Amino acid sequence: MSDIRVELTTGPKAKPKDENAIGFGNIYTDHMFVMNYDEERGWHDPRIVPYGDIALAPTAMCLHYGQTVFEGLKAYRGDDDSIYLFRPDKNFERLNLSCRRLCIPLLDEQLCLEGLKKLVEVEKDWVPHVENTSLYIRPFIISTEPHLGVKPSSSYLFIIVMSPSGPYYKSGLKPVDIYVETEYVRAVKGGMGMAKTGGNYAVSLKSQVEAEAAGFSQTLWLDGVERKYIEEVGAMNIFFVMEDEVITPMINGSILSGITRMSVIELLKSEGYKVTERRISIDEISDAYDMGRLKEVFGTGTAAVISPVGVLKWEDKVMAVSDGAIGPVSRHLYEELTAIQWGRKEGFPGWSVKVC
Ligand code: PLP
Ligand code: COI
Repeated sequence: MSDIRVELTTGPKAKPKDENAIGFGNIYTDHMFVMNYDEERGWHDPRIVPYGDIALAPTAMCLHYGQTVFEGLKAYRGDDDSIYLFRPDKNFERLNLSCRRLCIPLLDEQLCLEGLKKLVEVEKDWVPHVENTSLYIRPFIISTEPHLGVKPSSSYLFIIVMSPSGPYYKSGLKPVDIYVETEYVRAVKGGMGMAKTGGNYAVSLKSQVEAEAAGFSQTLWLDGVERKYIEEVGAMNIFFVMEDEVITPMINGSILSGITRMSVIELLKSEGYKVTERRISIDEISDAYDMGRLKEVFGTGTAAVISPVGVLKWEDKVMAVSDGAIGPVSRHLYEELTAIQWGRKEGFPGWSVKVC
């Protein structure tokens, strides 16, 4: 067991009164997990301390060159009042994958998991109670060395903050309308699209703002070279149900390897669905739509869970999928996944992790 110091706050905040109105990512719990890195000591001083501002030099490298990585996962309150995490080991595995790409020193995944569980236990009263709410967890690393030359930083901060949250999309499980981006690109192979790093979200903002102004929830990205093959949505991976086959873009180096995506594939395969991971072009989707073969489109993500897509707009073409309703595969997956996440159903070994 490692030595994780705990310093409790003397001034706990009031919990939200109306859990139905908390929104996503607006409120933070009383404590955070913190750990430092320097070249002499490596990652050291893991601790749980009161949530608060952090001091940074104006020349801290993260502020200039974007050497940051993050993760997103959730803690769920089960019917028995126990608190569960969903595949948290996968998040720390992916955090290290992002670290490798961004030249950030790797973390001890076991220690991170231990720190997270301890933090969740300290904050268990912050896990909301009402349906479709959870405690969103954001582990992240920033580079902190004060320096203006471009190079990997020699010091870092690893922090986990937590936020009681409702659904990511205001529409909840209602279908979202998605806009296929044809002007801007998110990532290319060899870039950092497969890492969870701030720059991938900074590059998406212009498209997201334009999509929202046109009445859409998010952008569907195409590949950055041919502008032809489907990649992923702003904050989720994407699936297409064509007749009796479920298809999703394969992991190719430029999209995020979503943990919900991985889980959906495993769930569907175990139930006998035909699931294919491959390149899929927007023309193919458009043709399938015209022929009536495109039955459902849905996104998957920690924040978004399963988000059915109601409309897909590609240039002048508006594809209304599933008549704007929630398709049977999307609904089934939503019900299965949330049952496992909320500890109502067992799922596969290691998926649902009871914290306390
Ligand atoms: N793609 C992007 C760009 C994301 O931000 C997310 C959200 O984390 C996902 C996909 C889905 O990943 P996961 O299912 O691990 O949350
Ligand atoms: C998540 O689903 O965890 C995300 O990271 C999505 C978004 C809030 C960036």
